[in-house]
Amino acid sequence: GDVAVVVPAAGAGVRLGPGAPKALRLLEGEPLLVHAIRRTAAAPSVRMIVVAAPPAEVEAVHDLLAPVAPVVVVAGGAERQDSVAAALAVVPGDVGIVLVHDAARCLAPAELFERVAAAVRDGADAVIPALPVVDTIKEVAADGTVLGTVDRSVLRAVQTPQGFRAGTLRAAHAAAADSHTDDAGAVEKLGRPVLCVPGSDFAMKITRPIDLALATHLLKLSA
Ligand code: C5P
Repeated sequence: GDVAVVVPAAGAGVRLGPGAPKALRLLEGEPLLVHAIRRTAAAPSVRMIVVAAPPAEVEAVHDLLAPVAPVVVVAGGAERQDSVAAALAVVPGDVGIVLVHDAARCLAPAELFERVAAAVRDGADAVIPALPVVDTIKEVAADGTVLGTVDRSVLRAVQTPQGFRAGTLRAAHAAAADSHTDDAGAVEKLGRPVLCVPGSDFAMKITRPIDLALATHLLKLSA
């Protein structure tokens, strides 16, 4: 493999309700992070995995993942981008392609990692898996008044793993002054092109309790 995967897994998961840090919540008896790393490690391109864990859980996460795949575990930060930066800092300089993958998208299949890595290998600086938006999307004022309807055909819902030339991702993180919700966003601010490839329904993000219910069902379809 020629790819390092950085896995931000340090979030609290507040929107999921009270409980353990999100990556350690259980899906059919196993932590989300275990599901995520099993699929990540199954991608043939993957040479190295770095997980950013909640600072208090670094040891526990290392012990949890050791039987699943070889991983390096670092302490994450206050914001997602801080966690990505902490993990990126330990990726060796000779690794040419870096994928960033949310632990919360724990059912993203190995094929999706391969699709994204292949597009970077084929010359793209930054690659994101994306799906068409199914809902009608409206811009709304603070008081609830509709300001307008956005043309849905040009919109995409974006997932992870997102793939980058390692130098591009490092430069984007170094330059990122304000916060961004995905790593491609930081690359866009550099003015570099970002390419979409088809995403996967299985790469849905577990955020709210209903997502956990959906993932429980998807797991049965995928396993
Ligand atoms: O909160 P959200 O669902 O957007 O988080 C996306 C991913 O980023 C999750 O896997 C979460 O664990 C991770 N994260 C992190 N460090 C933070 C916040 C979120 O690694 N400080």
